[in-house]
Amino acid sequence: MIRTYFFLAFVSATFLAVIGGCSDMGSNPPKPAGPPHITSFQPDSAFAGDTLKIVGTDFGASKGSSTVTVGGKNADTIYLWSANEIRLKIPAAAVTGNVTVTVGGTASNAVTFKVRGTVVADVSFVLDVAPVFANNGCVGCHGGTNNLRVDTYARLMLGTSLNGPVITPGNGEGSVIIKKLRGTASFGDRMPQGGPFLSNSVIDKISLWITQGAKNN
Ligand code: HEC
Repeated sequence: MIRTYFFLAFVSATFLAVIGGCSDMGSNPPKPAGPPHITSFQPDSAFAGDTLKIVGTDFGASKGSSTVTVGGKNADTIYLWSANEIRLKIPAAAVTGNVTVTVGGTASNAVTFKVRGTVVADVSFVLDVAPVFANNGCVGCHGGTNNLRVDTYARLMLGTSLNGPVITPGNGEGSVIIKKLRGTASFGDRMPQGGPFLSNSVIDKISLWITQGAKNN
């Protein structure tokens, strides 16, 4: 008798547990889509005209009005578009540079992709980067009493800002200064503080300069 009750209690407890588990299904709101994010490429490098597979998250279920650029060129030929994968034909005129996926007006992280057989001119610190700092208030706010100074190459590279080195040579998108310019740093404000902010193409150029080694050129 006691054994039967045990058995019945066990069965009903299991039943309730299953029902309880099921009743949750469908009532959870869908996970809100985050900004698109690129995690990797296959292959690592390729020629213009080859197929590039981009793996990541939140690309959206279908292409719609979303866009992808490879080294500054819009990819017109898309073979596949899904939330986690895009396959495209690398545009004819694409050169080594950033790949960005833009969904609903929101741009993904920019990740450098090497288009083989193309030569990318070095971004120059003196001609391309220093003038950006001089003309956008950076030197004014960061040239005097602040720990970070951006008025000379040597001071920029000193590594003594409150959050350590702001430039990681070889890794543009991983550098603190690029995160501050894109507004993705984990601390403080987007730079220049109070805006107006730099355009994506200007930030891409500084990022490429860092990826190319952050040379004093
Ligand atoms: C109006 C003043 C102002 C302007 C203009 C400005 N900054 Fe800043 N910046 C700050 C202040 C204040 C902080 C510290 C608080 C923070 O991180 O938001 C800071 C922090 C930073 C940091 C993080 C350094 C660290 O370790 O704390 C970087 C990198 C940076 N700025 C780069 C720039 C660049 C590049 C520009 C120009 C495109 C710029 N800033 C323009 C005021 C300014």
